[in-house]
Amino acid sequence: MCGIVAIVGRKPVAPLIVDALKRLEYRGYDSAGVATVEGEELGRRRAEGKLVNLEKRLQAEPLDGTIGIGHTRWATHGVPNETNAHPHFSDGVAVVHNGIIENFAELRSELVADGYAFASQTDTEVVAHLVSREIARGADPVTAAHKTLKRLQGAFALAIMFRGNDNLIVGARNGPPLAVGHGEGEMFLGSDAIALAPFTNSVTYLEDGDWAVVRRDEIAIFDIEGNPVERKRQQSLSTSFMVDKGNHRHFMEKEIHEQPEVISHTLAHYLDFGAGVSKPLDLPFDFAKLDRLSISACGTAYLSGVIGKYWFERLARLPVDIDIASEFRYREMPIVKNSAAFFVSQSGETADTLASLRYCRKAGVPIGAVVNVRESTIARESDVILPTLAGPEIGVASTKAFTCQLSVLASLAVRAGVARGTISPEREKVLVRELSEAPRYANQVLKLDQQIEKLARELSSYKHVLYLGRDTNYPLAMEGALKLKEISYIHAEGYAAGELKHGPIALIDENMPVIVIAPHDRIFEKTVSNMQEVAARGGKVILITDKKGAEQASLQTMETIVLPDMPEIITPIVYALPIQMLAYYTAVFMGTDVDQPRNLAKSVTVE
Ligand code: F6R
Repeated sequence: MCGIVAIVGRKPVAPLIVDALKRLEYRGYDSAGVATVEGEELGRRRAEGKLVNLEKRLQAEPLDGTIGIGHTRWATHGVPNETNAHPHFSDGVAVVHNGIIENFAELRSELVADGYAFASQTDTEVVAHLVSREIARGADPVTAAHKTLKRLQGAFALAIMFRGNDNLIVGARNGPPLAVGHGEGEMFLGSDAIALAPFTNSVTYLEDGDWAVVRRDEIAIFDIEGNPVERKRQQSLSTSFMVDKGNHRHFMEKEIHEQPEVISHTLAHYLDFGAGVSKPLDLPFDFAKLDRLSISACGTAYLSGVIGKYWFERLARLPVDIDIASEFRYREMPIVKNSAAFFVSQSGETADTLASLRYCRKAGVPIGAVVNVRESTIARESDVILPTLAGPEIGVASTKAFTCQLSVLASLAVRAGVARGTISPEREKVLVRELSEAPRYANQVLKLDQQIEKLARELSSYKHVLYLGRDTNYPLAMEGALKLKEISYIHAEGYAAGELKHGPIALIDENMPVIVIAPHDRIFEKTVSNMQEVAARGGKVILITDKKGAEQASLQTMETIVLPDMPEIITPIVYALPIQMLAYYTAVFMGTDVDQPRNLAKSVTVE
C-alpha cells in the first residue's frame, strides 16, 4: 500500500507534503518521510510510526526547498523502522515507492556485485541505486529514470527526485494509482486525488505503464517505450475538506453512527420509495439474459458479496459465483457465456480486486463496480459504476461501506428479479418498502449501545471467540469475527452454524464465548439446536436475535441482544450494526488503536 506525494512548487513544500500525507495515512502508518532539494543538496526527515512523529521531527529540524517528495508506509519489505522509511537515497537520487518490486532480489544482487551498499531492507532502495548508477554512467536524470523503469517488475507507483535539480520529478505507475495535479506554476503527484485536493482539482490519472516528467510549468507523459501519450485532464470531485470525528471518540464510532443516513442515501439511489419500484439502471448487460453472475472482492467487501449471492439466487434465481479476489485472479475460471461480473470495493484500489476485474475485461465480460470512491481505478476501469454513497470511510475497519455495499446488492437483486420475472410488481413494492425501513431499524439498534458496551467489557477478557450463523447470517458471522479480530486482536472465527459439529465444537468450553446471529426465521430452530450444543458443553452464548427469537430461545448461560422484529431482507444490513458495535467497544476496552489497528491499511494496493 503506502501513499506517495510529490510537489514541484513555488514555496516551501515540506509542510504541504505533510498535509497531503495526512490524507493518505489510511494507506499505511508504519513510518513516514519527506525529502526536498535544499540548495544543491537533498534533505530528508523520516520517522517510525505515524505521521505525527514526522511532524514533530520536522518541527525540531525543518526542511527547506520548493520541490519535494513524501511517503507514508505500509511495510512490505523490511521492518517498520526509520532506516526502512522512505524516501530512499542513492548518491543524489531520492525515491518514494508504493507497491512491490518483484525482481528486487535479483537487482539487489546485481547492484551489490557492482559495489552498491544497501542501507535498508526495502525493495525500493534498488530503484534509487539503479537510477544513480545510470547517472554515474553518463545518463541525464530523465533517461536514467526511464532505463530503470524498464528493468522493474512488479507493482509500483514511484516518484524520483534529483540532487541539484529543483524543477524535475519523474513519476511512474505500474499497478498502484498515481494522479498528476495541475497547478498554476506548480505541479503535483499523489496516490489519489484526495491527497491533492487542497492544491488543485485538475488531475490526470496515469495509466499502467505510464511515466511522467513533471516540471513546474509542464508535464509530459510517456509509455514504457518512451513514446509520448495523451491522458485526459479532468476535474476531480475530491474536496480539501478533512473529515473529522465530530463528537465521537473514533472515526469508527462516527461511521457506525452514520449508517442510518448513508444506507438511506444509497438505497434511494437505486430504489424509488414513493413508487415502490427499483430504478432502471443503464447496465452493460441485461439481467434477464444472464446465465451467471460473478462477484469478486476482498475482506469485508467479499463478505458483502457472499450475502449478495444469497439475494441474487433467492430473489432473481440468478446463479452467482462469489470469489475472494486473490483466489479468483489465479484460478483460471472458465468464463460462462452470458455472464456479467461485479467487483465490490470501498477504496476501488484493491490490487487483487483490480486484477480480477482485468481478467474479466480481457475475457469480454461486462463489468459493474460497486465502489465507494468513484474516481478510483476500479471505478474507472468498469463498464458501469454502481456507487455506494457511504461518504469517506476513514476508520480502517469497514463499517458503513459494508452496509452500503449490502444496500446496493439488495437493490440490484430486486432489480434483477424484476427483470427476470421472478419478482412480481406487487412483490417488488413490498421489497422496496421493506428495504426502505432499514435506516429506521438501524437507528433503533444504535440505541442498544449501553447494553452492547457492557457485553463488550466481558468479551474483552476472552482470548478466542466463535461466531455462528446460518443463511445470510453465516457471512455476517464471518464479518463479526473479522471485525473483532482486526481491531481488538482477539482471535475470532465465523462459522456456518451447521458446521459446528464437523470440527469447531471441539473448541467449546467455558473459555470460548459463542456469538450466535439468529433472527427468528425459517431456520431459527436449527440454530437454537446448535446453541444448545454449545451450552451443553459449558460455552457461553451471546445471542443476537429479535423479539420473537428471544422469546423462543432461553438458555441459562445466555446473554441476548434483542433487535426489533424486521423483514428478512434487511436483517443482514441491520444485524451488521450490533456486531460492529460489539467489536468496537471490545477494542476500546482492550485499549487498541481502533481507527488504525496494527499491521493494517485502508487501501490494499499490493497482492
Ligand atoms: C475489514 C476491511 C477489509 C476491506 C478489504 C477490501 O474491515 O475493511 O477487509 O474490506 O481490504 O478493501 P476494499 O473494499 O477497499 O476493496
